[in-house]
Formats: sequence, structure tokens, C-alpha cells
Amino acid sequence: MNLSAVITGVAGYLPPDILTNHDLEKIVDTNDEWIRSRTGIEQRHILKDKDKAASDLVVEAMRDLLAKTNTNPDEVDLVICATVTGDMVFPDTANIACDKLGIKNAFGYDLNAACSGFLFGLTTGAQFIESGRYKKVIVVGVDVMSSILDYTDRTTCIIFGDGCGAVMLEPSEDLTIGYQDAILRGDGSGRKFLRMKSGGSLSPATMETVLAREHYVYQEGKTVFKFAVKGMISAVEDLLEKNNMTIDDVDWLVPHQANKRIIDVVGRSLKIPVEKVMMNIQKYGNTTAATIPLCLWDYESQLKKGDKVVLTSFGGGFTWGAILLTWGI
Ligand code: UT7
Repeated sequence: MNLSAVITGVAGYLPPDILTNHDLEKIVDTNDEWIRSRTGIEQRHILKDKDKAASDLVVEAMRDLLAKTNTNPDEVDLVICATVTGDMVFPDTANIACDKLGIKNAFGYDLNAACSGFLFGLTTGAQFIESGRYKKVIVVGVDVMSSILDYTDRTTCIIFGDGCGAVMLEPSEDLTIGYQDAILRGDGSGRKFLRMKSGGSLSPATMETVLAREHYVYQEGKTVFKFAVKGMISAVEDLLEKNNMTIDDVDWLVPHQANKRIIDVVGRSLKIPVEKVMMNIQKYGNTTAATIPLCLWDYESQLKKGDKVVLTSFGGGFTWGAILLTWGI
């Protein structure tokens, strides 16, 4: 039997502490006007509780998701957690969150594709549902970027924030709804421009790497900006062409929230009206793997069954792509 993977619930969680642009003015040489005009960001949420980590954000979002979808924790089959800031290098954050929530019958794993992690995770989760093998798959995008930000580097610390978004995927025999298609791409040569220099097998942690501040996000912003614009536009155009659609057929564009200027250029180039473009970067900043599910969560009440939704992202790797969904709830 052919099955479609449908998003049957969306949830999100932001840690309670807020770091405004004015707060950042006291930490680095920056100002509210520059941050607003160059990025569109006004504030971001930050996990300040030193006893908490990414899994605690996942627990809060998944608890809400289980309640919204009337799911008993024992019914969950699989949890895929997209993140670059898991609780620790290993074990994975998905299983830590399942343990904390009392999810006993699921298996879980983390997926590292930076800002495209949620798109890659959603595609992976959809395959498990479409194959008929599993019935309840949770896909999470979570990042605690504040744990890997250099708050002396004004070019990176101002754009990122912490957050988590999660969706439930379930099978439907109605193939006109749910996950429809994707164009996903990768280019490892992009690692020059966006990476964490040390802490992996290439350059394990030493006193020297710590002193050289190599355990933080390193980004050549201008270069990444240009690749991001080009990558998201081409992924969406290719996806629409492949599905014999035009931009007029799209009800919602859900772009990765890295910089409002990137979103504006992508929207203008694709010729999609601004009111069809989801945007919440002003409230949360760039939460890496969490931006897209957090958009779906924020706009949930405006989404209608049958809406054509295009998700698109670009990020570290480089990784990028676009997914076409038909909203099913
Ligand atoms: O999500 C993962 C993928 N990441 C992205 O997509 C991020 C893409 N890149 C960007 O969003 C932007 O490149 C940034 C927001 C990171 C930087 O914005 P920009 O417009 O590219 O700024 P810039 O680096 O070209 O710097 C322009 C000027 C420089 O001053 P001079 O040399 O012109 O005098 C910087 O020193 O702005 C200065 N500057 C700042 N000034 C105040 C850079 N950062 C700041 C700051 N506050 N925070």
C-alpha cells in the first residue's frame, strides 16, 4: 500500500531568558540599529540554566507534541534529532530526551547537517513512514547555539539564538497530503567558510585550541550570505520545476531564518508575496536546526489543510535544499 508521511502536530520551546540587542551592546562593540538593519533580529532566547542542555529543550517541545497529538509515549517508534549542539558528542541527544520523557519503545539518533538538519531529518523520517515500517516518527530541530558562540566576536554572536521545534509524522493513505518531494544538496568544500575548528578528530581539544578560541562557531559571513541566497533560490526553483508548479501555486515559503536580508532577497527573486513568507527571526534569531519547525509552530493557526508549503534552508557543510509539503491537518 502506498503511504504518505503527514505532519500531524507541531510544537516548539524557547528557553525563558531573552538576550536583546541592547543587552549585546553591553557585551560587544555593536548596536541595536546595526543588528536590526543588517539582520532583522531584535532579540534571541538563551539557555542560561547551567544544569540544562539541548535535551531539556527537546523534552519540553516533545511533551507538548505528545499532548497535542494525543500520543502515549509508548507509541513513539523513532525520534530523529537534528542538532550541532547536542548535550555531548556522544551519546546522542534523541535518546537522552526519550529517557527523560519516559519514551520506552522508540529508537533515536542525532543528525548533523547544521541549518539544513531539519530538512534532512524530515526527509529521513518520511522514508520510515512511507515504507510502512513505522507509524509515529518525531523529527526535532534543536540547537543551543549560545554554548558554541564566542561572545567577543560581534560578527557571529549577534545572529544566533537557542530553541527547539518538533513535528510528528504519521502515515496516511491519502497521497495528496503530506511530504511530497525534495531537492537536497551538499558541498563539503563549504567547510572553509562555516565550521567549528577544533573539538573533532581533526583537531581534538587541547589547552592551545581552547586558548585560540577554536571551539566556537567560525563563519565568513559575507561568503556564506552569497551562497545561501543562491542555494535557496535554486533549490526552490528546481523543486517547483520538477513538480510542474510555479511560485503562484505555493501558499507558504518557510525559509531558514539566518538573516532577514537573505530571506528578503530570496523572496523577491522567487517573486513570492511577503505575506506568504514565514518570518520570526526578529524574536528568535538564527536557531540553526530549529528555525523551520519554529516557523511552522508560530504560523500553525494560519496553515490550512491542502496548503502547499515549501521549506528551504542553507547552512554549514555546506548543506541546503527545499522540501514540498501539502499541509495535512
Ligand atoms: O545559518 C547559517 C548560515 N549563516 C548565514 O546564512 C549567515 C550569512 N551572513 C550574514 O548574515 C551576514 O554576513 C552577517 C550578519 C554575519 C554580517 O553582516 P554583513 O552585512 O555581511 O557585515 P560585514 O561582515 O560585511 O561587516 C560590515 C561592517 C564591517 O565594518 P567595516 O569593515 O565596513 O568598517 C564590520 O566590522 O559592519 C561591521 N560589523 C558590525 N558592526 C556593528 C560586523 N558585525 C558588526 C556588529 N555590530 N555586530
